[in-house]
Amino acid sequence: MKIFLDTADIDEIRAAVNWGILDGVTTNPTLLSKEMNRTRKEAREIQLEICEMVEGVVNAEVTSLESSEMVREGRELAALHKKIVVKTHMGIEGLQATKTLSSEGIRTNMTLIFSANQALLAAKAGASYVSPFIGRLDDLGHLGMEVIRQIVEIFDNYEISTEVLVASIRHPLHVIDAALLGADIATMPFAVLEKMVKHPLTDIGLKRFLDDWKKAGSLEEKIPLLTK
Ligand code: G3P
Repeated sequence: MKIFLDTADIDEIRAAVNWGILDGVTTNPTLLSKEMNRTRKEAREIQLEICEMVEGVVNAEVTSLESSEMVREGRELAALHKKIVVKTHMGIEGLQATKTLSSEGIRTNMTLIFSANQALLAAKAGASYVSPFIGRLDDLGHLGMEVIRQIVEIFDNYEISTEVLVASIRHPLHVIDAALLGADIATMPFAVLEKMVKHPLTDIGLKRFLDDWKKAGSLEEKIPLLTK
């Protein structure tokens, strides 16, 4: 499963790139505006900076509601950098825009997906990726992961090549479940990625190894004295 960061924060992206495990980035208007406020930079400047930093794809979202406007914005985003995947939102206008963009060879990711039917329609419109939001479904008392299970099964049944990008991930268990279900990608906040690295037994184990090694070192220093 590919691991994406769901952020526009340049510092977080740089850190994950340095860990050597990052496959791509997803952004949305909320995340981008947060980074614009933090850095006082323009949206396009931030998007370009992310593209230059990351090896994989970078998802950038359109903000128009009408399909021809979405197409115009999508073309502009795709022309910005070859790594950009255009995020279009679910709905009739979004489906129309996705169809046009994908027929022009522009990769799209249909976002704000909350059901398997929406994912199926997005795939039929030619989306390269679908982004079901599991955390927001869980928040309402619905099983977000059940929607992932359905989408993965439907796409497998019909050999649909659209990738399932699990979004709105809130904790490491979401990542494990997404991987067990065979999702293609999990996109997550930096805090979740950090939690995936950590385990208290790893820290305790490392401390014990190093303490024992230190003790052995001081023993080695004493041995020549004892044998003299
Ligand atoms: O980027 C889309 C999605 O991952 C948003 O997550 O936490 O705002 O529901 P969240």
